[in-house]
Amino acid sequence: MPDRTPILAANWKMHKTIEETERFLAESLPRVADSGPEVVICPPFPSLKAAVERCAQSRIRVAAQNMHEEPEGAFTGEVSAPMLIELGVDGVILGHSERRQHFGETDEALARKVPAALDAGLEPILCVGENESQRDSDETEGILTRQIEADLAGVPDERLGEVVIAYEPIWAIGTGRTATPEQAQEAIALIRGLVESRSAEQAGAIRVLYGGSVKPDNAEELISQPDVDGALVGGASLDPEGFAAIVAAAA
Ligand code: PGA
Repeated sequence: MPDRTPILAANWKMHKTIEETERFLAESLPRVADSGPEVVICPPFPSLKAAVERCAQSRIRVAAQNMHEEPEGAFTGEVSAPMLIELGVDGVILGHSERRQHFGETDEALARKVPAALDAGLEPILCVGENESQRDSDETEGILTRQIEADLAGVPDERLGEVVIAYEPIWAIGTGRTATPEQAQEAIALIRGLVESRSAEQAGAIRVLYGGSVKPDNAEELISQPDVDGALVGGASLDPEGFAAIVAAAA
């Protein structure tokens, strides 16, 4: 089995000004800088530059929370991959359920965003996941299959391993209701199997994270599942101590 370095990514959503970002990193960098897992901080757009500058001398990487698929154009309010690259950003979250739910993010757009990010040199963190009624009516497998097939359609087989996928069941996001380690493992193994149907080699390399109410006290059990390669952490990543505890759990 290939060695996959775990990733712990902090999705701050619409939290933390530049000043708060600097304060968090001043406290957090000494705690997580020498850890084994890769650590990625995902602040809001205005705080990206400060985060890039603060993390420059460390192993911590910085990702944005969204981008447009075109490099430039008449798309008011949007930000492109080359603009993120110019800031020194390393990656970008794409297809978060909050963007799908509140901002009309579609699989069609994601099919263009994921390869656009890769081509620009950004590591995409693609989020997929079912909602509560879909899980209750046994549609999880169908939903994940549809999202993975559609969202990765534009990525060449030999580059699939460069994408990071986050399995985030919508019913577990911000609810305090975490998926059980078995549910996370089952869904993530399914996702890896979908990648395997395109390339066995890339399926062994691709990192698939779990996200949804990850906390210091449940992180270790979730991340120790054989197919779970880390976590995308929302609420619990806002506190330097809590986030450091989650990173430590994955080490
Ligand atoms: P949460 O959010 O950890 O607050 O549930 C996770 C996410 O939305 O990425």
